Amino acid sequence: MKNLIIKNSSELVTCKGDAPKRGKEMSDIGIIKNGAIVVEDGIIVAVGTTEEILSKYDEKNYKLIDASNKAVLPGFIDSHTHLIFGGYRADEFSWRLRGDTYMSIMEKGGGITNSVRATRAESLENLVEIGRKRLHKMLKFGVTTVEGKSGYGLDLDTEVKQLEAMKILNSEEAIDIVSTFLGPHSVLPEYKGKEDEFIDFMINDVLPVVKEKDLAEFADIFCEKNVFSIEQSRKFLKAAKAMGLKLKIHADEIVQLGGAELAAELGAVSADHLLQASDKGIQDMAKAGVICSLLPITAFSLKEEYARGRYMIDNNCAVALATDLNPGSCFSNSIPLLIAISAIQMKLSIEEIITALTINAAVAVGRADSVGSLEVGKKADIIILEYPSINFLPYHVGVNIVETVVKNGEIIS
Ligand code: NIG
Ligand code: FE
Repeated sequence: MKNLIIKNSSELVTCKGDAPKRGKEMSDIGIIKNGAIVVEDGIIVAVGTTEEILSKYDEKNYKLIDASNKAVLPGFIDSHTHLIFGGYRADEFSWRLRGDTYMSIMEKGGGITNSVRATRAESLENLVEIGRKRLHKMLKFGVTTVEGKSGYGLDLDTEVKQLEAMKILNSEEAIDIVSTFLGPHSVLPEYKGKEDEFIDFMINDVLPVVKEKDLAEFADIFCEKNVFSIEQSRKFLKAAKAMGLKLKIHADEIVQLGGAELAAELGAVSADHLLQASDKGIQDMAKAGVICSLLPITAFSLKEEYARGRYMIDNNCAVALATDLNPGSCFSNSIPLLIAISAIQMKLSIEEIITALTINAAVAVGRADSVGSLEVGKKADIIILEYPSINFLPYHVGVNIVETVVKNGEIIS
């Protein structure tokens, strides 16, 4: 049954209002004390105090959840992941613990190349089953929408296979998946010194197939020293935009190349990582309305300085937070860890973190019209916490306190 009333919530977090929320607006998450929400056919039809709602709706006609002493929030949106991949790179992680760097492993022929080999070797069916398990783990953390990228194929067949796996999962699983084509994710040994040729291959041979088969909404590139330059990134992203794809960019992660500025120049929806983004890049993103997608578990895993999230918000940027789940730099989909680092190390308030994981993340994946806040007309993607206040999210450090997950009005976890 998809008709539902959740009532008596000690804190009903709506995240309502214009999206994205920038700067100070990120602190305004529209909490209703003793809140209630009405769902019909999987869509939110009313939000208010429990008193208001029960005076207008007869609770006998609905499935009821009593959320006394529990906070209720929009489902989380993990707006940057690489969830479809074969194999693992645990050995590389142990080398990094002993002092090797992410880029030195990549330059020695390891890194993404290893995951490409393993992903090419998996059948479509296997990739679907691998992805399915990962999606189920995400749901337990309250993630109801996820973005997933290709990028472990780097050839036509495997890029298409990864995107097809996501398309199948999107139709079979409750969680919504937004797909991103990340063909230019790495330079394989055979393309070393021939990066321009590889970019042309992606533009001429792969992008048109992705478009024709309707496999992705976004295009993305790893713009980084010794991977793809600003010029190569501009060329690829412009071609993708001309074909109707929206843009994301792995920008200024290890070296300050000017990826943030490029994102603003091209009107990208988001720029991601941004550990090294310049002051000017940050100002440009604020002006252009680019979502700054920060991935602190990656910085933590790589032992790098965190992106300057506090500075970005203080300079009127719209920030989103995501896990970056992938087999190399960040093998984690842990929302509790993400919240802990953002609050304790990056000095974001819990209100800002919630905005970054809901409505701003919805903008980052092009879904702000249907998810990211608890407002009339949106999908009933709702999470209920085990505790009465959002303050428990950072306080119960690293522990999952999501008790119930509602997707399209149905309790699924
Ligand atoms: O977002 N930085 C580039 N891409 C991924 C890592 C991919 C991998 O190492 O497999 C990231 O961190
Ligand atoms: Fe990434």
